[in-house]
Amino acid sequence: MITIENLLPADFRESSLRADVIAGLSAEPKYLPPKWFYDAEGSALFEKITALPEYYPTRAERAILAAVSPEVAALSGASSLVELGSGSSEKTRLLLDALRAAGTLRRYVPVDVSESALRGAGDSVDGAYPGLDVHAVVADYDTYLGMDSGDAGPRLVAFLGSTIGNMTPPERAAFLSRVRAALRPGDAFLLGTDLVKDPAVLTAAYDDPARVTAAFNKNVLSVLNHSLGADFDLDSFGHVAVWDPAREWIEMRLRSASGQRVRIPGAGLTVTFAAGEDIRTEVSAKFRRAGVAAELAEAGLDLRSWWTDPAGQFGLSLSVPA
Ligand code: SAH
Ligand code: AVI
Repeated sequence: MITIENLLPADFRESSLRADVIAGLSAEPKYLPPKWFYDAEGSALFEKITALPEYYPTRAERAILAAVSPEVAALSGASSLVELGSGSSEKTRLLLDALRAAGTLRRYVPVDVSESALRGAGDSVDGAYPGLDVHAVVADYDTYLGMDSGDAGPRLVAFLGSTIGNMTPPERAAFLSRVRAALRPGDAFLLGTDLVKDPAVLTAAYDDPARVTAAFNKNVLSVLNHSLGADFDLDSFGHVAVWDPAREWIEMRLRSASGQRVRIPGAGLTVTFAAGEDIRTEVSAKFRRAGVAAELAEAGLDLRSWWTDPAGQFGLSLSVPA
């Protein structure tokens, strides 16, 4: 049985977006938080990205999950699977299959800010797992982690796709501490992390010739146009993806092609751009095993298992409360 619960405030796309836009577009340099990519169009564009030949992370993580999901199921013994930023839940089916085969899973709680992604995921999961209680929650994991005390334990909390890389290091530390605080003894945390590799491979994954990533990046401006009545001209911003070797992250930016003013009535703002000025729209950090273990430990989580795909492109870790 599938239920969908919406925990976002009715004016989420206005009030919370408004606050983020005022903070980010008044800052120097300008930035926008990546959660605003994911309206229905943005979620669909992300799914197209996952099928691009250059975008290896989804295939690499799927290969790991195909190989180790039975082990994850055995190690966690989970009766509830909570998934943060679950998107299409496509790779998750490997985990669901393994947890069902192990005979432990009763409840699946996908949490995502994108209602359209959750509905699509619900449709594809519906009927495939008879007797599984699927409780989808439309929520912002910055404020809600899907771990209600009523859930049966043990719980497995999954955060896949290297979405954690879209947080800055202080945001990651705060997020991991919140996850740790919500876990009970016997619960486990499954984390997908894209790994540091050849910068040419990395930049190709974020600047594909089919321009799907460019459309995904510019979609955040459409969200501002629709939700806040802004008048961004998408053609007057260029898609930029750069590798920062010091921070070991890809930075996606939107670069103003000319000097221009953009009105954003819903935020009470008029924003001025110089020619060549950037908005940072996303960081996508890449990780090393030691760094992942250290960040987990700092949050009070003990790394128990670490798996990579055969080419060593992507890492999946299982950790437990220390
Ligand atoms: N886990 C999937 C999807 C990754 S895309 C995969 O591995 O393919 C990132 C997902 O996180 C999107 O579905 C997006 O809607 C969701 N997301 C981004 N920021 C979020 C937030 N603050 N709260 C909840 N979901 C968020
Ligand atoms: C969801 N997240 C992990 C993706 C990433 O790779 O950082 C989002 C994305 N941005 C551009 N392409 C994909």
